[in-house]
Parts: sequence; structure tokens; C-alpha cells
Amino acid sequence: MRHEHLISAKQLSREDIETVLDRAAEIAADPEAVAEACDGSLLALCFFEPSTRTKMSFETAITRLGGDATDMGGVESSSVKKGESLADTVRVIEGYADAIVLRHPSEGAAKLASQFVDVPVINAGDGAGQHPTQTLLDLYTIRENAGFDDLSVGIMGDLKYGRTVHSLAHALTNVDANQHFISPESLRLPRSVRYDLHEAGANVHEYTEIDDVLGALDVLYVTRIQRERFPDENEYRQVAGEYRIDAELLESADDELTVMHPLPRVDEIAADVDETNHATYFEQAHNGVPVRMALLEAML
Ligand code: NCD
Repeated sequence: MRHEHLISAKQLSREDIETVLDRAAEIAADPEAVAEACDGSLLALCFFEPSTRTKMSFETAITRLGGDATDMGGVESSSVKKGESLADTVRVIEGYADAIVLRHPSEGAAKLASQFVDVPVINAGDGAGQHPTQTLLDLYTIRENAGFDDLSVGIMGDLKYGRTVHSLAHALTNVDANQHFISPESLRLPRSVRYDLHEAGANVHEYTEIDDVLGALDVLYVTRIQRERFPDENEYRQVAGEYRIDAELLESADDELTVMHPLPRVDEIAADVDETNHATYFEQAHNGVPVRMALLEAML
């Protein structure tokens, strides 16, 4: 992985996944041991879309490795506002930093950026495309809570526009998980993702009702309806609030069910789930730090 770009979860073999996850577990157990691993390295944070977890956990990760981060700031306060192209922005930033973490509203933006620079580009979300580092922390959380053996994962909500879903589905295929997709008809997986999963021999099932599969799941991965990606607000309103879980619904789930969410949640997980043993989404968000530390250590 050293000095390579990370654009899509499709790049991650099972061996890559296990290597990063094993290292992340070591780092979580003894973070002091890597306190100088990236001494002198500078990570550029270029976020053209809102972010809390991804940006702050990358910043925390590089700092805990002894490196530093430099933040482009919001689009409004950068030269993007003056009409600068993405290609020019990243070509300038590569002169300052050892790697670029990029989030952008356009699908394909990270791939495009990577063609203009020599420093590694890490895709932190490209429109409805991919979000591979979220996938690594999702897998870490799944492995810690449910293990990879004979694993059944339900992925519910916005499967069409959810980039965390697209990345996770590729990676789950590589760890041979059974994948159950639950969504309204209008938000099913995009054809391109479905095709790739089929080609990779994924074990995929689709549902419109969570009740039809809940009892069979080890993990339920809930997602937000990606309002900002709907071309038409009316289409969003038709599906908003439809796919929601609460503590009562989870009574028919396995006691060991792990409920995850990449966050932020809007209303798709009721607050009463937070008090149950199923709730794992805050732990999941915290896992972003050791996982991104392991990744940065490998890439830099
Ligand atoms: C996700 C994203 O940006 O795709 N957030 C995150 O990185 N944890 C999920 C979302 O915004 O719904």
C-alpha cells in the first residue's frame, strides 16, 4: 500500500483488509508504540463536502502518529470559490503535503485527482461513489463484534446513493459474507454495483421489508437517506422516514445482533436503540482513529 492511491474498496484484497485490521488492533492496544511512526509527515485534508468524523479522525490519526495535518478549509473560504479546478487545487497541495485526503460531491473526483499528483490520494467520499476508509473501520467493527466466519450482514436504507454501502458491499464480498440488502424499490443498489458484485461471486439477497430478514442477521448496517443527492426533493420526501428501526422492532432480532451506522443519523435509528446492547455505532465511529492510523502508517 505504500505510496499508492486508495480510491475504491475494490482495490482491497482480503489480505490487505486483514493486514490493516490486525495492525489497527495492535495500535488500539498500544497507541504509544506508534507515536513517532509518521514523524515529519504532513497530511492535507481537502473536504469539498461537510464532514465531522472522517475529517477529525484523519486529523487525530496523523497527529497520534507524530505527523501533522493541514486543512484546506471550507469551499467557501478557499480558491475553489474563485473557480479553481480540482486538478489545479491538488497539484498545488501536493507541493505542501505527503498525502491528500479528498472528499468531493462528484463521483470519480478522487480518481481524477489521483491522475494529477504523485502523492497518495485517499478517497474520503466521492459523491455517491466510494468511501473505502469508512469500509475499513466498518470491517474492523464487524470483525470485533461478529467475526468474519459465516457472517450475515443486512444493509438497510439508501443503497442507491450511499457510498459507504457501495464500498462495504465490495469488501464484504472479499470476506465471503452473506449480504442482505433492504430498501425501497427506488433506492436499490445501482446496476453497476450489482454487476460488480455478481461478477465477484457475491452472495446477495434483496428485500423491501426488514422483518423478512432481521432474525437471520449478525449485523444490521443502517444508513441515512442521502437527501443531498436526490435530484428532486419530492422523491426524497416519498422515502424519508420509511426505513427506521427502534428498540421494539429489535425485539425480534438475535440477542447478539450488532447494529451499525456510518453516522450521521437523522431519524433512521430511534434514540431508544442507543440503550440496547445492539447499538455499536459510536464504537464504530471511534474505531476510525486506530484504523486510519494503521492505514496512514502503511501508506506513508
Ligand atoms: C458517511 C458519508 O459521508 O458518506 N458519513 C461518514 O463518513 N461517516 C455517511 C453519510 O453521510 O450518510
